Amino acid sequence: MDAPVDLTVADLHPSVDDPALNSMNFLNEVAQHWPDAVSLAAGRPYEEFFDDDAPRRWLERFRRHLVEDLGQSPAQAQRTLFQYGRTKGIAHHLVARNLAVDEGVHVDPEAVVVTVGCQEAMFLVLRALRAGPRDVLLAVAPTYVGLTGAARLVDLPVRPVAGGPTGVDLADLREQARRARDEGLRPRACYVMPDFANPSGASIGLDDRRRLLDLAAEEDLLLIEDNPYGLFPAGDQGRLPTLKALDTRRRVLYLGSFAKTVLPGARVGYVVADQRVAGADGTVGLLADQLAKIKSMVTVNTSALAQAVIGGALLEHDCSLVTANVRERAAYARNMRHLLAGLARRFPQPSPVTWNAPAGGFFVVVTVPFRVDDALLRRSAERYGVLWTPMAHFYDDGTPVDALRLSVSAVTPEQIDLGLDRLAALVADELDRAPAPAR
Ligand SMILES: Cc1ncc(COP(=O)(O)O)c(C=O)c1O
Repeated sequence: MDAPVDLTVADLHPSVDDPALNSMNFLNEVAQHWPDAVSLAAGRPYEEFFDDDAPRRWLERFRRHLVEDLGQSPAQAQRTLFQYGRTKGIAHHLVARNLAVDEGVHVDPEAVVVTVGCQEAMFLVLRALRAGPRDVLLAVAPTYVGLTGAARLVDLPVRPVAGGPTGVDLADLREQARRARDEGLRPRACYVMPDFANPSGASIGLDDRRRLLDLAAEEDLLLIEDNPYGLFPAGDQGRLPTLKALDTRRRVLYLGSFAKTVLPGARVGYVVADQRVAGADGTVGLLADQLAKIKSMVTVNTSALAQAVIGGALLEHDCSLVTANVRERAAYARNMRHLLAGLARRFPQPSPVTWNAPAGGFFVVVTVPFRVDDALLRRSAERYGVLWTPMAHFYDDGTPVDALRLSVSAVTPEQIDLGLDRLAALVADELDRAPAPAR
């Protein structure tokens, strides 16, 4: 006899039964079930550059930094690395230096909270901003599912703002903010990824970045800027300034991740929260300190050893991740070009199959004239041996989306070729099943 049931999902927080929280599990499950399939799904960094010796070296480099640069005794340095530690982190000053070196963003290190991946930073920010039941979050759609999931955990409704090819539809952002207010709600912030967004690949142009900041001020919104892919432009064009670099009014909460630029296994990210917060007693502090209170009850502090590994990597490259990622940037750019050329060869235009051409990052969106859902992904994995991500996972309203996301980050050009051959076979069979007029 089966063991008796002790609880039902209905007795747990509604988030545990939410599609956003099931999404990552589902995608991982498919990948695990068909391990031999070529994965154009995973947004993981390229593994060929992983180096067994590097974390040890970086840890020691950071330890020496504590002693030689910060004046800690060897015993103090050992305590810094081995003990419970400062809630806002022990590598915060290096994060601030990195932002100055690579992004021209100058922030007080005290405004940096080093987190357990960017994911924890999202949770802390949303937890803090959700003050009451009238609060809502605006998010450029399609939206990274980790953000939607974090919002679910704190009961913060997410309202989509049209993204489109320019990265954000500013008129729609204004409209959504006003509509929410008309409904008696309080839009707190808009989540946006200006550089090579996940999943859309879209980037926001310089003029629109400025307009977005003006709009945020006019509509009294904060902007939550998430930037895990900004270091990876695919062409020779320079990088655009981040919103945070252009932010003169402290409208931007900046989220960072070292998962793509140093080591995902370290699970280190951060948030810059330099907004000034008045307390009930009239004292004024940084939003980072309020986030740290929440963090102290979620993860206490980010692993000191993990921060030391990341900190050492930063020190090794004079705090420039641009410098540290020259090989990676070239590999991702090569893969992006290879994927786009491979799509063009396999789906000569005009064709009912179309795609965008991102200026960098990891992701390309392919639009097809048939239903793209989880069932098709399973069939693709089982019969065709190729994995990708249904775009419906990045929309919150459950409406079907006839598009899929391809990732170029964790594959070789040969795997891209094989994956695209298999995808082309799947597409051909689907078109045969339900022929569609050319668009
Ligand atoms: C847009 C975006 N934000 C945040 C993250 C999560 O970063 P981390 O691994 O540092 O938690 C990812 C990971 O894929 C991402 O794509």
